[in-house]
Amino acid sequence: MKAAVVVTPGTIEILQVPDPAPGPGDVVVRPAAVGICGTDLHIMDGEFAPAFPIIPGHEFAGEIVEVGSAVTGYAVGDRVAVDPSLYCGHCYQCKRARGNQCENWNAIGVSRSGAAAEFVVAPMANLFRLPSHLAARDAALIEPLSCAVRGFDVLPRRMADTFLIYGSGTMGLMMLELAKRAGAATVSMVDLNPERLETAKRLGCSAAVTNAEELDAPHGWDVVIDCTGAAAAIRDGLRRVGRGGTFLQFGVSAYDARVEIEPYEIYRRELTITGSMAVLHSFDRAGELMASGVLDPEVFVSHRFPLDRYADALAQFRAGVGRKTLIEP
Ligand SMILES: NC(=O)c1ccc[n+]([C@@H]2O[C@H](COP(=O)([O-])OP(=O)(O)OC[C@H]3O[C@@H](n4cnc5c(N)ncnc54)[C@H](O)[C@@H]3O)[C@@H](O)[C@H]2O)c1
Ligand SMILES: [Zn+2]
Ligand SMILES: [Zn+2]
Repeated sequence: MKAAVVVTPGTIEILQVPDPAPGPGDVVVRPAAVGICGTDLHIMDGEFAPAFPIIPGHEFAGEIVEVGSAVTGYAVGDRVAVDPSLYCGHCYQCKRARGNQCENWNAIGVSRSGAAAEFVVAPMANLFRLPSHLAARDAALIEPLSCAVRGFDVLPRRMADTFLIYGSGTMGLMMLELAKRAGAATVSMVDLNPERLETAKRLGCSAAVTNAEELDAPHGWDVVIDCTGAAAAIRDGLRRVGRGGTFLQFGVSAYDARVEIEPYEIYRRELTITGSMAVLHSFDRAGELMASGVLDPEVFVSHRFPLDRYADALAQFRAGVGRKTLIEP
C-alpha cells in the first residue's frame, strides 16, 4: 500500500509499504480522511514518536475492509471512526480508570502505524460505528472533539456559567460549540489573530476580541479555558477567573513554559486550576455529538489534500493557515 512515512525527524516521504494484517481482535480500515494537528508537527520534529520510521495519522474514520478471526459485531463495509488510544489495561493508572495516563501508553499514528496510508489496523474495542447520515470523510473530526469532551468532563456542570476561551483555532472553536450545548450564559473568545475570530463570530460566540481587557466582566468568568498553550494567554486567563471559578489548561505548552500563580488568590477566591489530556472514555460520546450535528464540517474543515500532498498539508498547517486540514488517502 501507499503511505506517508516520517522516515526520520524532518523527512516525510510517500512510500510503498507492506499491507497491514489484522490480529485476531483487529480490523483493517481504509481511511476516508485523516486530520492533521499539532501532534503530527511534534512527530515530524522528532519530539513525540518513540521510534522512526512511523506512519502518522491519529484522527481518522473510514471503511472496514478486513476483520480479524475473533472480531464480532463488525463486518467488511461497516463505516467507523477510530479512537487511536491504546491503553495497556494493567498498569497503576489503567487500574484506576486513567487510561490516558497509561504508563505503557501507545497510540495509532504516534507509536503504531497510523492512518496517513491506504490501510490502517485498529482494535475492535476502539471503533465507533458511524450512523448512515454521517460522512466518514467528516468523521475524522470525532477524535479532536473527543479531547474537547474530555476537557468538559473535568469542568463543573452548571447552567448559565460564563466562559472565556483563549484561542480560536480548531480546539477553541470546538470548546465554543460544546459550551453552547452545555448551557453557557455567554462564551467570549480571545485570539491575537482577528481572522481566527471571524469563525467564532460565525458560530455565534457572545464576544470575539484580540484582548480580554476589551470585555466588561466585573465578576470575572466562571470558566476560563486555554486553547493556545501560550504562556501570555495562560497568565492573562488565570487572573480573569471569577470567584469559585475554574481554569482549564487544555492547550499544550512548551515543556519549559512557566507561569506564576498567586496562592493567596486561589485560596481567597476558591479557584480551581485543572488540566485535561487527550481522550478518556470520551470517544463514543464525541461520536454521538458529531452525529447530532454539534460541529458543521463545512465550517471546521478548511482544507482537504490527497495523500501524495501530505508534506504540503503539514507545511501549510505549520504556517497557521486555515482550520482543520484533512488528508484523504
Ligand atoms: N488537551 C488536549 O487533549 C488537546 C487536544 C488537542 C489539541 N490540544 C492543544 O490545544 C491547543 C489548540 O489547538 P488548535 O488545533 O486549536 O491550535 P491552533 O494553532 O489552530 O489555535 C491556537 C490559536 O491560539 C491563538 N493564540 C496564540 N497565542 C495567543 C495568545 N497569547 N492569546 C490569544 N490567542 C493566542 C492563535 O492565533 C491560534 O488561533 C494546542 O496547544 C494543541 O496542542 C490539546
Ligand atoms: Zn490530534
Ligand atoms: Zn496502562
